[in-house]
Amino acid sequence: MPPINAISLLKADHKKVKGLLEDLESTTERGVGKRKKLLSQIDAELKAHTSIEEEIFYPAFREAVRKKEDREMYFEALEEHHVVRLVLPEIAATDPSSEEFGAKAKVLKELVTHHAKEEEKDMFPEAKKVLSDEELEALGARMQASKDKMLGRKRR
Ligand SMILES: [Fe+2]
Ligand SMILES: [Fe+2]
Repeated sequence: MPPINAISLLKADHKKVKGLLEDLESTTERGVGKRKKLLSQIDAELKAHTSIEEEIFYPAFREAVRKKEDREMYFEALEEHHVVRLVLPEIAATDPSSEEFGAKAKVLKELVTHHAKEEEKDMFPEAKKVLSDEELEALGARMQASKDKMLGRKRR
């Protein structure tokens, strides 16, 4: 099994969730079953992703960084996860045959896209500077194991 780099793993998650959010955005009030199915997939993926970041990747990042703005980045990322967690149950409680559902799904997509973009543009490049390849691979392995456990399946 090839080693899993932490950053590649997180980026692959971003891509997957963004794809699911785009699929959700393209549904209509008539696609109730599809909306429900996509939302539950998005919910599971986002929960697993934010957990492995908060429990494994972010703490390692926070430990390794020295600059004030890097610590600020860490706290901001946590707050963004917090907002995502507030929005998720709200969407789940919204009637999928309503226009409101579509609006909420769109806002979730914007939130997640913005957050993932900042991680990829600012946090991950910074993490590559402060963590060695070996460290990134060790983090990647731990995150993959944790994800497999949470999502109840093997990916590779
Ligand atoms: Fe994140
Ligand atoms: Fe992320």
